[in-house]
Amino acid sequence: MPNMPSMYEELLRLKSLAGEELAAISQVGELELFRVKYLGRKGEFTFVLRQLGQAPPEERPRLGQLANEIKQELEIAFAEREARLIEADAGTIKVTLDLTLPGRTIPFGKLHPVTQVMDAVCAIFEGLGFAVAEGPDVEVDFYNFEALNIPAHHPARAMHDTFYISDSLLLRTHTSPMQARIMEKEQPPLRVIAPGKVYRCDSDITHTPMFHQVEGFLVDRHISFADLKGVLSVFITRMFAQDTPIRFRPSFFPFTEPSAEVDIGCVLCGGKGCRVCKHTGWLEILGAGMIDPEVFKKVGYDPEEYSGFAFGLGIERIAMLKYGITDIRLFYENDLRFLSQF
Ligand code: PHE
Repeated sequence: MPNMPSMYEELLRLKSLAGEELAAISQVGELELFRVKYLGRKGEFTFVLRQLGQAPPEERPRLGQLANEIKQELEIAFAEREARLIEADAGTIKVTLDLTLPGRTIPFGKLHPVTQVMDAVCAIFEGLGFAVAEGPDVEVDFYNFEALNIPAHHPARAMHDTFYISDSLLLRTHTSPMQARIMEKEQPPLRVIAPGKVYRCDSDITHTPMFHQVEGFLVDRHISFADLKGVLSVFITRMFAQDTPIRFRPSFFPFTEPSAEVDIGCVLCGGKGCRVCKHTGWLEILGAGMIDPEVFKKVGYDPEEYSGFAFGLGIERIAMLKYGITDIRLFYENDLRFLSQF
């Protein structure tokens, strides 16, 4: 029986070889190769079992039983090894995925400080019953100047540093053209604010070529300078502190008569005098006045019947005063370190 010991030996050799190889497997990915090599339909054990027919008949059952036992043992060992490796793998996942870490926060966007101040200004006037109107940035000469009592060659035009698009088209230099545009279309009584962008060819620490204004005007019978003073006082005490000092200084605008510039007590030094208020204790925040009868005539209102006031304020200027910003250009550099503070 020369075959018998060699088949035994072969089975035992396979058993120990497979055991060693299985023990050496350290990754789930290597398992399949092992399974095909030893346990698969074309694997080593199947090969040995196929040769069973060459063994002496009386030995066949014993050899067959042994082969099956070894195969079964190996299948159990394989399943255990597989479970162990999968578990170890899951362990690694647990380490790399720390579920107790806080989620990544998505940074919130914010409204630009100019937008915030613009909204606050509009909200105050809306609370006083003013309606909001918007007009074009590209304006015709007529509304920007002519209708506002600033004829061609009037020296007041020189103050405006206008960007011209053509002889009659320009970028509006102020929001005042909205006075003429609205009055031309609507009849008094009127209470309107017109927020928007304006443009002037000017650039330094207090001027940018584009900035924002809010125009306001009110037209009715028997409107006096006292009404203007009352409305602006309410605005200033709501925008700044309740006890903010206010003063009206005589000034000139071609479209208002009388005209005034309105100052508030310096919000930075409290009126004592500092660099920002140029040691006067006061800060100019807006221009205003009673609407000039010439403007009423241009839009077809009877100046004997109606009177009204108008004012125009610069949003960047108010934002600078409110937040103590000394360079207006910061608003337009889009540096998030600056913008995210508001
Ligand atoms: N439009 C003027 C300016 O931009 C401001 C103003 C508006 C003055 C309304 C009086 C009345 O300087």
